Amino acid sequence: MAMIPPETLELIRTRLDIVELVGECVPLSRAGRNLKGRCPFHQERSPSFIVSPERQTFHCFGCGEGGDAFSFVMKTENLAFTEAAEKLAARVGVVIEADKTLGPEDRARLRMKEALEYAAQHYHALLQRDPAAEAARKYVASRHLNAASVDGFVLGYAPRQGNLVAAARRKGFEEEILMKAGLAAKRADGSPRDYFFDRLMFPIRDGKGSVIGFGGRTLGDGEPKYLNSPESPVFSKSRVLYGLFEGAAAVRKGRKAHLMEGYMDVIAAHQHGLKTACAPLGTALTGEHAMLLKRYADSAVIVFDADAAGQTAAVRGAEVALAAGLGVRVGTVPEGKDPDELLHAKGLEALQGALDAALDLVAFKTELLIKRAGELTPEAKSAVAKDVLSTISQCPDEVLKDEWVRRLALRLGLNEESLRRSGGKAIPQARRGPATAPSPVKVEPIRPADIPTWDLQLLGVLFKTPVSARDVEEAVLDSDAGRAILAGLRAAGPYGEGWGGRLLEALPPAERGAASRLLVDELGYEDPAGVLSAMLDKRRRLKRLKEIEPAVLSMGAGRPVDAGLRDEYQRLVVELKGTKRG
Ligand code: UTP
Ligand code: MN
Repeated sequence: MAMIPPETLELIRTRLDIVELVGECVPLSRAGRNLKGRCPFHQERSPSFIVSPERQTFHCFGCGEGGDAFSFVMKTENLAFTEAAEKLAARVGVVIEADKTLGPEDRARLRMKEALEYAAQHYHALLQRDPAAEAARKYVASRHLNAASVDGFVLGYAPRQGNLVAAARRKGFEEEILMKAGLAAKRADGSPRDYFFDRLMFPIRDGKGSVIGFGGRTLGDGEPKYLNSPESPVFSKSRVLYGLFEGAAAVRKGRKAHLMEGYMDVIAAHQHGLKTACAPLGTALTGEHAMLLKRYADSAVIVFDADAAGQTAAVRGAEVALAAGLGVRVGTVPEGKDPDELLHAKGLEALQGALDAALDLVAFKTELLIKRAGELTPEAKSAVAKDVLSTISQCPDEVLKDEWVRRLALRLGLNEESLRRSGGKAIPQARRGPATAPSPVKVEPIRPADIPTWDLQLLGVLFKTPVSARDVEEAVLDSDAGRAILAGLRAAGPYGEGWGGRLLEALPPAERGAASRLLVDELGYEDPAGVLSAMLDKRRRLKRLKEIEPAVLSMGAGRPVDAGLRDEYQRLVVELKGTKRG
């Protein structure tokens, strides 16, 4: 992970196509000069995520995320800039001749990962050999975990008397790094202590196999049952799936994953030969998880615990996966069990049966709601219909939507047409008839809070004629943010290949959101330079008007009349007539 020379970055940038890159995980459709889709960074029903092929940038009008291909990969895969660049370089066949200097943030991340890897090996060695880990070894056996699983997942033991920090310090790991990586915590007196005590340790790995955090299970009934590493610069729970690294080859091969609820389910599944099993880390499935998965798979089967919470979480997760464009089905394990218990009690065939019987999300949700409703009174039917229709309406596939409405009507014994009508705009109406084009989506622009309208307007024009940025004085802009973006425009140089990315890179992070929004802005001007000079001209006149107004308005009332000034004032008023003075 060394610093990448700017020429190499430039080469990667010119070979990349952001539309292709984003399109692999976000379904995109044309919207004028841009493409739009549902934002992968927040939940939304209607698309406000815009990708600009011209600028090679993206921006979400819903959540404000924006950037270029590099930031897209950094965000979706939680990678540092250089890691993302390496990935993209490989994608477009650029060889990175690294110079060996690391930026300070990259150096810290690298060091954290080294410390985490060290910790994994330390805990693993203890579990295998240390006399103090006897109870842990008994526990492992009681959970039917075999040696191959313990080795393959590098399971470990964090002893009751924590000794990781001391050992890592002896190995030269800096205290600050151990803290940052979540391996150490501060005592009241400020000295460092271990973060994990007396727990069975599950190292969590990112897509490259680096350890980025841990889950630790109590050996008894302690609380919490599982303690996860705190979020850190390398560890973000919403962006990692346990077991996906270990099972990546299998998932890729079948383009299919099996999503389970916890660590134990995943390991049991792998141990029984189902290597496509992975799980979120005790959080709800996020859009980011779904995106991550989409890099490996086209579809997922979700099998969570049989309890009510598990079923509800399965439906939510499936909705998220569906919205991200993953094919998704939901399976049920027999009452009272999770995949882990089922596998150890009855073997893979039993789980396979549950997987084969998995229903698509709409059918699963329908059955679950019907079961929960008890008696299907007309009111209950209506409530179920409403709830399921809301799920159907989120599906990006119109053909599927249509089919699901038909099935829902059948299952509930409702009239199909009235069901369609009650579903509102997002539900396809008549089954046959002329195909109607989807209505254009109206994107409500949000104004970045700290940039005044004038600055946004002026920058908006400058984005269409970046060369002019050289001729605009900083003082013309009213805000620091606006001036920062102007400086970025100057640094990015004239418009050309890779321009959008260069511009974003030249900006401080706080200003990138506003800039990425301006980048995808579609307003076209025939003559942006002309518009710009007219704007600047008007601005000058307004300023002059405000300057002389007090003097002119107080003329006559005992003060001498300056005819020249009065004439200038009147001329300015006429020239600025019909334009706002703001
Ligand atoms: P479960 O309690 O269903 O986990 O929680 P499990 O894997 O079946 O646990 P055991 O070991 O067999 O009893 C599901 C997942 O929720 C997260 C963990 O990721 C767990 O695997 N979780 C659970 C926590 O993060 N903290 C907790 O206290 C409990
Ligand atoms: Mn369990």
